[in-house]
Amino acid sequence: MKVAVIGAAGGIGQALALLLKNGLPAGSDLALYDIAPVTPGVAADLSHIPTPVSIKGYGGVDPTPALEGADVVLISAGVARKPGMDRSDLFNVNAGIIKSLAEKIAVVCPKACVGIITNPVNTTVAIAADVLKKAGVYDKRRLFGITTLDIIRSETFVAELKGKKPSDIQVPVIGGHSGVTILPLLSQVEGVEFSEEEIKALTPRIQNAGTEVVEAKAGGGSATLSMGQAAYRFGLSLVRALQGEQGIVECAYVEGDGKHARFFAQPVLLGKEGVEEVMDYGKLSTFEQEALNNMLDTLTSDITLGEEFAAK
Ligand SMILES: NC(=O)c1ccc[n+]([C@@H]2O[C@H](COP(=O)([O-])OP(=O)(O)OC[C@H]3O[C@@H](n4cnc5c(N)ncnc54)[C@H](O)[C@@H]3O)[C@@H](O)[C@H]2O)c1
Repeated sequence: MKVAVIGAAGGIGQALALLLKNGLPAGSDLALYDIAPVTPGVAADLSHIPTPVSIKGYGGVDPTPALEGADVVLISAGVARKPGMDRSDLFNVNAGIIKSLAEKIAVVCPKACVGIITNPVNTTVAIAADVLKKAGVYDKRRLFGITTLDIIRSETFVAELKGKKPSDIQVPVIGGHSGVTILPLLSQVEGVEFSEEEIKALTPRIQNAGTEVVEAKAGGGSATLSMGQAAYRFGLSLVRALQGEQGIVECAYVEGDGKHARFFAQPVLLGKEGVEEVMDYGKLSTFEQEALNNMLDTLTSDITLGEEFAAK
């Protein structure tokens, strides 16, 4: 397997590259690309870690050598939030970056599974999909918005609140990846009961957890280390599934049956071709059903924004 990290010199990219260098299956190749000239140096640095994963780094304006032969491409290229910004404020810069990267992927590695971290994910995934579609290579099984950070945050916060081991807690998170579109299904967490007050406090905490980090970093960026871990978890699940391991399920923002919106985050069974099955997210509580109904206008307009941008 060859995994390419695009945006690899950034806060997320470096953390993710470190985790992949240590955790990818033996014999994997890791390629790092970033427009920042430090990128070959980041790869040289990581190459001294004694693991059976080869690593190369590329800077400059052309991602082609990093993308060539890639099975998985994880994209965190772009700008991150500062205090006072929400994810949609990143649209103007990041939309163009995702568009041009998707155009390259369409030519260089059209069969790769692509995981998008770059915000606003609700919109950047729609851009990538339509750019790939225009190039005639779109396969909805191979494009993912990475929402795993919402999952790991939910697992951490629930475990803290209930005095459980985080590894024993699983929380499906559906919808999208910003504000009200993030919907943790707390009613489905096994072995834990929540009061109405707890649900009303925990749900917005999970939805706004990114802002907690942005404010704490006081102008120094948004979540990078926890996001690196989240993208590593998702990327590794994808690699293992592509290699034939069965039964791997992760929540991700994908194009499914369009019941609620063209793209929607929900549990996905991963397989040798990417998405094997977009799974049913199960029964919702009244609170969750209401939250789902209330998010759909926002989610749909985020998606439309991406579609319109890609069409330009
Ligand atoms: N999906 C999520 O849950 C989630 C969580 C946190 C952050 N993010 C998003 O991830 C993105 C990156 O965040 P970060 O903290 O790593 O930012 P960062 O500024 O530290 O790193 C971004 C990197 O992208 C590079 N870059 C810019 N344009 C590029 C291009 N055309 N090709 C290749 N590389 C390019 C920059 O040189 C920089 O090194 C942001 O959009 C942020 O909002 C997503």
